[in-house]
Parts: sequence; C-alpha cells; structure tokens
Amino acid sequence: MGKKVLVTAALPYANGSIHLGHLLEAIQTDVYVRARKLAGDDCIFIWADDTHGTPIELRARREGIAPEQLIERAYAEHVRDFTDFQIGFDVFHTTHSEETRRHAHAIFAAMTERGDISSKAVQQLYCPVDAMFLPDRFVKGACPKCKSPEQYGDSCEVCGTTYAPTELGGPHCSICGSTPELRSSEHLFVPLARHEAFLRGWLAAPEQGGPTELQPTVRNYVMEWVDGGLRDWDISRDPPYFGFEIPGWPGKYFYVWFDAPIGYIGATEKFLAERGGDVAAYWRDPERERAEIVHVIGKDIVYFHCLFWPAMLHAAGYSTPSRVHVHGWLTVAGEKMSKTRGTFILARTWLDHLAADELRYYFASKLGATQEDIDLSLDDFVLRCTADLVKKAANLASRCCKFLTSRQQGVIEALPAEAAAIVESAARRVGEATTLYRAFESAKAVRLAMQVAEDFNLYVTEQAPWKLGPADAARARAICSAGIYATMVIAQILAPVLPRWAERVARMLRLPKPFDLRKPVEPLPAGHVIGEYETLAEPVDAAKVAAIVEASKETTPARQTPVAYDVAALAAETGLDDFAKVDLRVAKVVACASVQGADKLLQLTLDLGPLGQRTVFSGIAKSYAPEQLIGKHVVLYANLKPRKMRFGVSEGMILAAGAEDDAVTVLELDPRSRPGERVS
Ligand code: MSP
Ligand code: ZN
Repeated sequence: MGKKVLVTAALPYANGSIHLGHLLEAIQTDVYVRARKLAGDDCIFIWADDTHGTPIELRARREGIAPEQLIERAYAEHVRDFTDFQIGFDVFHTTHSEETRRHAHAIFAAMTERGDISSKAVQQLYCPVDAMFLPDRFVKGACPKCKSPEQYGDSCEVCGTTYAPTELGGPHCSICGSTPELRSSEHLFVPLARHEAFLRGWLAAPEQGGPTELQPTVRNYVMEWVDGGLRDWDISRDPPYFGFEIPGWPGKYFYVWFDAPIGYIGATEKFLAERGGDVAAYWRDPERERAEIVHVIGKDIVYFHCLFWPAMLHAAGYSTPSRVHVHGWLTVAGEKMSKTRGTFILARTWLDHLAADELRYYFASKLGATQEDIDLSLDDFVLRCTADLVKKAANLASRCCKFLTSRQQGVIEALPAEAAAIVESAARRVGEATTLYRAFESAKAVRLAMQVAEDFNLYVTEQAPWKLGPADAARARAICSAGIYATMVIAQILAPVLPRWAERVARMLRLPKPFDLRKPVEPLPAGHVIGEYETLAEPVDAAKVAAIVEASKETTPARQTPVAYDVAALAAETGLDDFAKVDLRVAKVVACASVQGADKLLQLTLDLGPLGQRTVFSGIAKSYAPEQLIGKHVVLYANLKPRKMRFGVSEGMILAAGAEDDAVTVLELDPRSRPGERVS
C-alpha cells in the first residue's frame, strides 16, 4: 500500500449559504477523492466550516444571536447541502473547535519560540460609534487614484488600484456611515521574509528538485510575490472579533486566516479520534514519508495557501502541503453569478428542482487541471446531460439490457470476436481515466466513458441483433453482451462522478461487488443472468432550469404604483400646514445597517451631494436586507424636524409605499438622478 493521502477542499465561511461556486470546488474535490479511493489509495477527505472573523461577529449581532448559534445553524445547512450533493467527505468539522484551538496554540507557541512572531503598534481606522477597528472591507470612500466614490478600503472596483483604507477620500464606516478616526493598536506579525529561502525551495519547479506539485501558472504567480519582497503578515485582530484569543495577549484574537487552515489539522484530529489513527502520520511528517497532503482551492485564496500556510507549518515543524490544486471561477450564463439575474444559485435552490447527479456530471465534464473559468451555461447544461447521459450511455445500457431480458432470459454470452478491438480499447480507457482523475482532468476522463458509449452504440446498431432470427439467438446475445460489457466500463469510469449510476448498474447486472478503478472490469462470464433495466438517466427538463433561475432572483417586492401619501399625517408630523411645502430630495444610500434591538428598523446613511450626509431610521427591515438598499437613489423627505429615537437621531424620512410592514417598496429613482436635487 502506498502513502496515506489527505485531501481538503477550502473551508466555506459559516456566514453564508452554499452556492454553485462552492459546489464546483466540492465536486472537483469529491471526484478526485473518490477516484483515488476506488483506485485503492488510502485517501481521506477532510473538511470543515470556517467560522471566525468580523463578518460572522457582525452578522450574529445584526440577527441578535450569539455567533455560536449562527455557526451552528450554518453547519447544519452546509452538511445537509453537501451530503445531498453526494460529497463524500470523511469528516466535516468546524474551526471553532478544541482541536483547532489546540493546534493554533501549538503552532503559535512554536513560532514564538523560534522568534517568528513580532509585535508592533499599527495605526488603523476606528469607528467611535461602533466602538471597533474597521477591517478594510468595512471602510468605504473615494479611490485615491481614480476618485470613484464608495470604494472598499482595500481596492478600487473601478480602476483596480490597491491601497490602505487610510488613503481613501472621505472615509466612512460601512456599518454606520460615520467618519472613522485613526487609532493605534498593538498587533502581532509573522515576519515572512525570514522564510524566504524555505518558500523558494517549497515553490521550486520539479526540474529544480522542488517538492511540491503546483500548476506552473500558480507556481510562477506565487514566485512573483516572493520576488516582490515578503512583507510582515499581521495575524492579530482587536475585539469585537469572533475567534480564538491569543495566548499571552489578552484582548487580541487570531486573525481568521491564521486559524482557518489549522482547521484542516483540527478536522483531521476529529476524524482520527473517531476512526483511530495518528495525526502525526499526516501532519508531523515534514519529509512526507508517510503521507501526502493535497489542498483544492479557488484562485482567490492562493496567497494564503501558497505563502502563509506553508511558512507557518514549516516554522512550527509540521508537514507542508504536497500539492495545491487551484481551480477556475464559476460563472453562470457567461457572467459572474448575479442575484438580480437569478444566476446566484444556492445549492438548496438547485435541489428543490433538479437532482445533484446532472450537475455533478456537468461540472466534471468541464473541469480540468488549469485555472480556466468554468461556465455553467444553462442551455448547454440541458443539451450536454441529455446528449451524453441519456442518448449515449443510458441508451446503450437500455437497448442491450432490455433486449437480453425480454428476449433471452437475461443470459449473457461470450463476447463476439469482431468486437475484440473496441473491447480492448474500452479496457485501456479505464486505466487512462484513472490516471486522468489523479491529474484533476475529469473532463478528459468522462470523455473517455462517452467514447466507449459511442463505439459500442455504433457497433450494436450495425450488428442489429434484433434482426437476427431464432437460429442466431446465441449471436444476438453475444452482440448485446458486448453492449453490457461497455455499460460496465462506462459505469466504472463514471463511478467517481456518478456513484449512484455505478451502484444502479452493478445492481441491475447482478454483479457480485461494486465497481472500483483498480483494474478494468472483466466481461461477464457466459451464462451469467442479468436483472431488469433500471432507468439510469432522463432528459433534463428545461422548465426546471428556468424555475431555478426564477427562484434565485432576488426577491425585491414588486413595484407598486406610487404613492398614497397620508397628507394629513405628514402635515401633522412636519408641523407644516401644507404638503406642498414638503421638501423632497434625491438621496443616495451610502450605508445601511440593521439596528440592534429593533428588528423593524434599518439605519440608513444618505448622501445628498452638496447638502452633505443624513442619518435616517426607517421601519423597512422586514422588506429589505441592508445590502439591498446600498447604492440606490431614494426620495428623502428632507425638511422634517429631526426626531430623537432610542437608537439615535433620525434626520428625515424616506418615501415608501405599501400596505403592510413586511411588504413596502421604497421609492427608487433613476440612478442618474443627482443626490441633493429636488424631486418635483
Ligand atoms: N473560508 C475561506 C477558505 C478558508 S480555507 C482554510 C473561503 N471561504 S469561501 O466560502 O469564500 O470560499 C470557499 C471556496 O469556494 C474557495 O476556494 C473559493 O475560491 C471557492 N469559491 C467561491 N465562489 C466561487 C466561484 N464562483 N467559483 C469557484 N469557486 C468559488 O475563502
Ligand atoms: Zn461605524
């Protein structure tokens, strides 16, 4: 038996639902792991939720629950979604675990011991209203380069420049809209430059004796960062932060990206505690004599997995990854997944309408070893599944199986001599597919299965066994037996992608054991009796695909005809006797947040252009999530008396229409309207 193999997919954040982008990675990892297991490798799939960080802390607050409750809810959903997509992980743990905490402490202690941790004071933006240091993504302002407004604190989505949040023009807190101030705080750093020699070695190409399997583009890309100079990595955060407190540094927390990958080790420990086995065999094997470690990740997190993570592991005397496989980005219908277009599709929405199998097949049929983006084109999805699974693979199985069971009592015959060439090439393809799966080339592997189906469909059609008379019954059986053999080869090759298909074929053909990929299957012996055909695939219903898109469209309440103002009430509120004196202005929502302790209220920060900014509290939280309103142009009733509320002062009202609390529509203006201008 070869080395042990430990495979991971990236740990999904616990503050969101699983969507098709996550599934692309999960399916790629699952297919790889299943193929290796079927080929006889001692392989485990180690996985968990990534539960720490500011967004989780803030989201829990917004919902008025503890972060522990939030991550527990996400955990249950994530496990259910992945299980229903037949992702065969061996463990799904959480980074908020004692195992992960213990290893984080051990790694931190070992690094401290070696002088790999330093501390220094850093100046950072602090929101006095929210009483917190603001992570880059929580500060917005004008890009220092192109001056585009409302850019995040780390980079500009318009011109692509990266910068520090302190460089933004007119910075404001994205939670409450107020202007942050600079404050100083002590932070802990890993001086990465100390690991430059190690990293260059770890990243070296195979021709230079490099120990790590990396795609050449990834290797070059990461090497460029190293060449550009390694900067100190800030691994601490100030409260409020949901995470692990740093030992010896009360009130400081490990940055989520410090403990997230340690979650891989924590989850391994959890798994081995249940199954038995030694964590050290996987993670304390720096020479990699006993185990391989393979990480599957998306393009956006290469930096963490190919610089920080190996440096940390190396510094603390743990094993470093043997291979990091980076996949491309999933687009839907040719574009980034979009909530308004209905292409931001959640795993659960998919399962509400369609089975997992077809999506598994489709992704596998498109994924290769490069970082090329993968597009889920919905028409192509329908066509591909029908053409391959129904018309090629299932059709062959159904024709041959039904002919044998209805006319020949299901009895198998020895394969005919003239099929020898295609039989031999089918057997060879099993070995080729197994090698391809190991190289993450699933598209090429499933293509081989389809070629087997094509060869044998053609053969059976040409031989036309149904035209043979009773005197040629044995020959008719032999021809169909060749089709049955091909059905077995196809099931064998597809087993990592479509485990249920493989199980069904094994059952209907009454095979003594399930398919594996150790060696090509043998033809069934003459005289073996197969069972009735079971449906293997059916055409994908395009209407169901359309229903998924429809169900994924962000549910903005239907636009209603404006606007039944209660003039008398408004007049009473303003103290003006005439509604005509109401001053209505274009206002752009620059920030919006829930209000803790008031589940109906949203706090909006409105930009009125030359008239400055206003804060407004509005009872629309039942109809809108805060992020839905950001960027919209709304109508502000601007000359209302400021009203003191329990949560702050509301400086006006925004206009909305609707009968009930949970079904109001905020009046929305054309995005070209100019903030501050009068609405007439
Ligand atoms: N929590 C971190 C990973 C920590 S690993 C120690 C994270 N989580 S994530 O939920 O944002 O993303 C999880 C994985 O899904 C990442 O590998 C990411 O690249 C991948 N994808 C998220 N959206 C994706 C697409 N649209 N397409 C393909 N992969 C995508 O990052
Ligand atoms: Zn704030």
